[in-house]
Amino acid sequence: MRAPMVERARGTRDLDPAYLARHGHMEAAFRRTAAAFGFREVLPPTFEPLELFHRKAGPGIEQEMYVFKDRAGRDLVLRPELTAGVLRYYVNELTSAPKPIKVYSFGPTFRYEEPQRGRYREFWQYSCEVLGGSPVDADAEAIALAVKSIQATGVRQVTTRIGHIGMLRAWLKVDRERQNRILHALDKRNFEMLHAELDAAGLLDLEGTLRDLIGIQGGSEVLARASDVLGGVGGEGFDHLRRIAERLAAYGVRDFVFDMGVIRGLSYYTGMVFQIHSQNLGAEDQVGGGGSYALAELFGGDPIFSTGFAIGVDRIVLAAEAEGVAVPPPNLDAYVIPIGDAVRQKAFEITGNLRTTGLRIDVDLVGRGPSKNLDYANAMKARWAVLVGEKELANGNVALRNMETGEQREVPVAELASVLGMDKPHFQNGVEFH
Ligand code: HAM
Repeated sequence: MRAPMVERARGTRDLDPAYLARHGHMEAAFRRTAAAFGFREVLPPTFEPLELFHRKAGPGIEQEMYVFKDRAGRDLVLRPELTAGVLRYYVNELTSAPKPIKVYSFGPTFRYEEPQRGRYREFWQYSCEVLGGSPVDADAEAIALAVKSIQATGVRQVTTRIGHIGMLRAWLKVDRERQNRILHALDKRNFEMLHAELDAAGLLDLEGTLRDLIGIQGGSEVLARASDVLGGVGGEGFDHLRRIAERLAAYGVRDFVFDMGVIRGLSYYTGMVFQIHSQNLGAEDQVGGGGSYALAELFGGDPIFSTGFAIGVDRIVLAAEAEGVAVPPPNLDAYVIPIGDAVRQKAFEITGNLRTTGLRIDVDLVGRGPSKNLDYANAMKARWAVLVGEKELANGNVALRNMETGEQREVPVAELASVLGMDKPHFQNGVEFH
């Protein structure tokens, strides 16, 4: 009797070659852009002490964490994001490094959320931080990198929304935890919860104003209106946003709106906040988000101006798919088929040589007949089949079969690599070239 099958854990996925080819393309675009902006890679561990996140991540994320004890009884958490780990690393080891510190990380993160399309319990983040820059310069650098990183993947149909949580905090004159709960309700657009939280804080008179404020969005002109709604509180914040917009223009980033409704789910944000939304993803449309935050002082360091963002790599894969962005498929360039045992050794020698060219080459490892092997080449979406037969080899040739058209011709073994490489499609910025 067979043992029962083991099901995948809820909210996780088995990622197949086609998906991972897209994922890898996004990763390469992100790494390239981060490097072009002078960011360097760091990677904190996958699990961290619980205290790194406990009462610091915010009411939303805290309930979604995978918390566990190790065998020595230590309280640990699978990282729900990368920023806290990077800031712990900074406080522990990098405080005397030259500033600003510009780093990016790429890796899986974990949240116990209700799974649906675009929302998983294990997902990948590309997360970037600027520590120790001046506020306008660093905030604009972070937004520009986020926008350009997404552009580099070929994804175009996104909207960047920039807001400011600092002026809201300045205006909500209650302790930080209460502020976080009010902002959490606002972020979720849960007006029942908002009413209850404001009531408990004795701030019910602010309810109408808050609801008006989060509806304000548009170009620079809306900043004055938002400032009026807040009765002049947070003026510095609005001025900060104006200056960021000027700097972004210098970087050629003009395609964004100001949106006072950008609140963010994590509670460490203190100033500018921003989110990037895909126009094609439905409910889980937020492909990236970030802003400036205060974390170093929570981890025993001195305050340092910190700003950054993370992009959800899985959501960018979905957005790219929805837009029809072209990505190199994980297909074989050629599949080598020995016709008979006498030429097997020679077929493997040809395979070995072709594998040094950067092309994707496979060879029959089963000992199947030619027609079964052609079926396999088809299933692997090989562009070419290289048929190695005694007759052709006697003239120094092999038979080369175009798997798309079925055309077959003889090609000298010595010319095989250049013939196979010639019509290989190239991909740049989401567009395929031949
Ligand atoms: P976040 O908005 O919580 O920010 O997550 C960043 C991105 O991760 C989201 O915009 C979304 O694309 C993706 N994401 C979040 N949850 C899921 C999920 N369950 N499944 C798939 N994708 C998801 C942060 O994590 C901050 N650490 C960003 C940051 C860096 N702020 C400053 N520096």
